[in-house]
Amino acid sequence: MGGGEKPELMINGKRLDGRLADQLRPIKIEVGAVKNAVGSSYIEWGNNKILAAVYGPKEALPKHVQNPEKAIIKCRYQMSPFSSLEDHGRTGPNRRSTEISKVTREVFENVVLVEQFPGSEIDLYIEVLQADGGTRAAGITAASVALAASGIPMTDIPFAVSVGKVGTDLILDLNKIEDNYSDADMPIAIGPRTGELLLLQMDGILTREEVKRGVEMVKKAGESISKLQSDALKASYEKTIQKYQK
Ligand code: CDP
Repeated sequence: MGGGEKPELMINGKRLDGRLADQLRPIKIEVGAVKNAVGSSYIEWGNNKILAAVYGPKEALPKHVQNPEKAIIKCRYQMSPFSSLEDHGRTGPNRRSTEISKVTREVFENVVLVEQFPGSEIDLYIEVLQADGGTRAAGITAASVALAASGIPMTDIPFAVSVGKVGTDLILDLNKIEDNYSDADMPIAIGPRTGELLLLQMDGILTREEVKRGVEMVKKAGESISKLQSDALKASYEKTIQKYQK
């Protein structure tokens, strides 16, 4: 939510970018953008451009962070200094990026089979190259693909998307201007196989009924997001097979 003159976000049932209330922005996912990573992906989600890269499992360091029962997941979400019109010139983590790194890590702690890698760490990097609202959701969606591409076993391949409120309307997948001026914004991550809610944050106020309806909108949108994730993974496997068949 932001200050300044509040623009009209819904006009005749359409949003400022022409979308309907329950319409996603265009999404494109590629696997393998970072060759040195164990698994990686690149996502374009509307005007967001984000890289996700996974390293490990490897020995957790420093040694005192090791857990003899399971792997620890380290996650760093970061916005590049040129990712938006706002000034990101000051490098290093801030409150927002620390929070997003934490909630993202928690999403994956619930789906990665960490017990299979005692004493190890799995490093997850999310680099926002261009930002336009919903980067935590797009980052989680991309990170899921990067983790799957790395071959690290997971019980599910989570996706994430935001749902928000403008007046009495619920809108899916808020862009930056909608994020800034909507009445509420609720980023959600779900494991599509189990239907488990892995992230639910809320900025603003929604009624119990709106939350329920919002979660349903997200689940419905998840069908197409999950398909894009698995299509990207399949395309990368096909590419690998073709390489070895030559
Ligand atoms: O990106 P997400 O919606 O998950 O997080 P947010 O904190 O609600 O921020 C919304 C949007 O504001 C971001 O996607 C960016 O486009 C922009 N933003 C920015 O440019 N610089 C920041 N320091 C924070 C937000």
